[in-house]
Amino acid sequence: MRVDVVTIFPDYLAALDLSLVGKARRAGLLDLRVHDLRDWTSDRHRTVDDTPFGGGAGMVMRPDVWGRALDDVMGATGDGGDDGPPAHLVVPTPSGEVFTQRHAEALATEEHLVVACGRYEGIDARVVEHYRATGHRVSELSIGDYVLNGGEVAALVMIEAVGRLLPGVVGNPESLVEESHGAAGLLEYPVYTKPPAWAGLEVPEVLLSGHHARVERWRRDQALARTAARRPDMVEALDPGTLDRHDLEVLAGRGWVVEDGRLRRSGDEPGEPHEPDGGTAAAVAE
Ligand code: ADE
Repeated sequence: MRVDVVTIFPDYLAALDLSLVGKARRAGLLDLRVHDLRDWTSDRHRTVDDTPFGGGAGMVMRPDVWGRALDDVMGATGDGGDDGPPAHLVVPTPSGEVFTQRHAEALATEEHLVVACGRYEGIDARVVEHYRATGHRVSELSIGDYVLNGGEVAALVMIEAVGRLLPGVVGNPESLVEESHGAAGLLEYPVYTKPPAWAGLEVPEVLLSGHHARVERWRRDQALARTAARRPDMVEALDPGTLDRHDLEVLAGRGWVVEDGRLRRSGDEPGEPHEPDGGTAAAVAE
C-alpha cells in the first residue's frame, strides 16, 4: 500500500518510523511518504491560510495550495494514471464520521491513500468537493468527539490502525482475530501473564487450569460483562441470534433482555438511551 501524508508539520509523522509501522515501511509492505504542504506555496512567506469568508475567528487553509499539492501526490487527472485506481483521500477532521475498526478494515484494502492534514479552522470546503467530483473517494474522518490542533495526530492513529491490518505487518495474524472491536462486536477480555501473583493479586484460577473450554467460556463471559459495563451501544448492536444461552444469561445478569429480536436494557423504553451506571467491568464481572 502507498500512503502519502500532506501536512505543514512533517516532523509530527516521524513516529511512523517506529514499531510495527516502521518495520512495515522498511520491509516494503507500506510505502509511506510525508510531504510539506508549504512546498506547494508560491509566495515568499509560504502562506497556506487566509481569513474566512463570512467572518469569524481563525484562519482557513487555502484551496489553491491544497489543490496543487494533492494533484501532485494523487495524480492530476483524477483517474489514477497508469498506476492503478484513483487514490482515496482521507481528511481527518473533528466534523467527520467517527473512525472505527470498520473504516480501518475498508481503508486497508486500498492501494493508495492520501491523508490531508488540516490545521487552523480547517481546509476550504471546495477541496473535498473538487476531489469527490473528479472521481476520488473522499473520507472525512474524526478520531473522536474532541478537538485537536490539527489532523496530524489523527493521521498517526488512522495509519497505525490501517497499517497493522496489512498482510505481513502483524507477525501473528491470530492476534487480530479476537481483539476489541473485532467481528464479535465485544470488547476484549482482560489478559494476564507471569508472575501468577503480584501486588497481592492472583491471576484468575481458571487461566492456570489448562482447561481450554473453561478458559474460552471465562474469556467470553468477561468480554460480555466488560462490554455491558462500558459500551451499552455495542451490546445494543449485537445480533441476539449470534449469542448462545449462556451469553444471554450473562447479559441478563447485567440487565439486558431480548425484545423484538434486539437487546435492550430491561426497564428502558424502546429508543430511550439508558443512563450509564459508571460501574467498571471488574465490578460487574464475576
Ligand atoms: N482534527 C482536529 N480534531 C480532530 C479529530 N477529533 N479527529 C480528526 N481530526 C481532527
